[in-house]
Amino acid sequence: MRIDIITVLPELLRSPFEASILRRAIDKGLVEVHTHNLRDYAADNYKTIDDYQFGGGAGMVMMIEPIDRCISKLKAEREYDEVIYMTPDGHTLNQKISNQLSLVDNIIILCGHYKGVDQRVRDQFITREISIGDYVLSGGELGAAVLCDSIIRLIPGVLNDETSALTDSFQDNLLAPPVYTRPAEYKGWKVPEVLLSGNFPEIEKWREEQAYLRTRERRPDLLDE
Ligand code: ADE
Repeated sequence: MRIDIITVLPELLRSPFEASILRRAIDKGLVEVHTHNLRDYAADNYKTIDDYQFGGGAGMVMMIEPIDRCISKLKAEREYDEVIYMTPDGHTLNQKISNQLSLVDNIIILCGHYKGVDQRVRDQFITREISIGDYVLSGGELGAAVLCDSIIRLIPGVLNDETSALTDSFQDNLLAPPVYTRPAEYKGWKVPEVLLSGNFPEIEKWREEQAYLRTRERRPDLLDE
């Protein structure tokens, strides 16, 4: 899989891909992540990428021309399955979307800034608009990093058995059950007996029950889906 991220702040997108599981996925050749500085595609010598909005009002709008130039260059090099725009008014990210996107070959992610992008960019180039939650970030970069993390860990071969995504929260519309490790007793606080029993069918049953109880208590909306 290849991910191309278009941004005005490429520095903000460095460290998430330099550490941990994402780094390993890149090193293993399972994913390529390329960032493109939108200013490199500006049409003037001042590297202008934003302008005042027509009709007046506070805040700058990202111009169509630099974005068109960048997206068109990328599209001339390969086919893209999705061109995603990170925006608070997009579809809220969930595990189903991440699962879908983990199966495609090439995606472009455009990070918004200021008051957002000229609507014609959204109309002409964008296939999917994604928000990472009902709050406003200063730009789409941190959202793009979250989206990439959630997608990349699902690519076959990225996680090993121990970190398998199959037991993650949300994977079957249930939250994950509680987990414990040694010591079995700490300051009198005990690990549930069943987990020490070695009775694996019982342990599995307990985990399923706990996942259900936790979901009913914290996220009953998931049980209706
Ligand atoms: N850009 C600004 N806020 C955002 C959000 N909540 N999700 C995705 N991109 C954003």
